[in-house]
Amino acid sequence: MTDSLEGRLSVAMVEVGAGEEEAFVAIAREFSAIMARKKYGRADIVRDESSPSTFYAVRHWASAGAAEACHADPDIHALTSRLYEIARVFHVVNGVRRPDSPGLLLGDRRSSVEADRRSGFDRRVKDLGRADGDRRTADRRLGPRRTRGRSVELDLVAAARRARENADARFSNFKVGAALETADGAVITGCNIENATYGLTICAERVAMFKAISDGHRAFTRIAIVADTPTPTPPCGACRQILWEFGGNLEIVLANLAEEQASHRLKTLLPLPFDARLL
Ligand code: THU
Repeated sequence: MTDSLEGRLSVAMVEVGAGEEEAFVAIAREFSAIMARKKYGRADIVRDESSPSTFYAVRHWASAGAAEACHADPDIHALTSRLYEIARVFHVVNGVRRPDSPGLLLGDRRSSVEADRRSGFDRRVKDLGRADGDRRTADRRLGPRRTRGRSVELDLVAAARRARENADARFSNFKVGAALETADGAVITGCNIENATYGLTICAERVAMFKAISDGHRAFTRIAIVADTPTPTPPCGACRQILWEFGGNLEIVLANLAEEQASHRLKTLLPLPFDARLL
């Protein structure tokens, strides 16, 4: 046990692109300096000597509140944007996950949504818009991914392609893979899994989302969906609903085995959504 119940630890594995190690170390130093200056805590990096482009970013938060403030900090967002240009980040330990609210345990979904609305971590709620549509005309991306480079875009698609290989599509032979990105950079994958009664089949997107929720993730930015088709395969209606309820106005990247084909925002694929605000 640590001597302070308030102190929390997060660890992320960072795979740095070839030749970008120095740039990564510079970003990590800046990150560490901001953490110290703003009293969020301490940040260290550890290099994996057997794999020199792999690092572990270890963050010792002063408290869960400090972690939350750090995640909302525009200086940190700017740094994270630069990081995502040169590296892939896999979340390993999240020491600042919010516990379930008592309301959720009691089955009162409204109280859990209200709790989420107050949380700085939960970007899906911030981006929900109005129940009867959103007056905002231009899509505004929240958070650190604004200037993301294309190479990282392709990585999410690559993860969906790999997940697709695990699909169990013995009845339709239509294999689908999905890769869901969390707000802290983790990538959770899913594939479709079919069933002899057909109706119990589950799509790749819902597998990815349910895996993520079950692992404790609650904020998401994008999902890549891959099928082996010449025209893009968009998520089915059931998946749109689930993605909306748990992921909000996600970016939906559609691709096949050869190329990225389209990118949408979920709100345009699911106008006038039903969700917990209407209960
Ligand atoms: N499927 C998905 O996994 N995702 C989609 O976006 C569309 C459909 C699956 C369900 C079923 O296993 C197969 O594709 C044919 O519908």
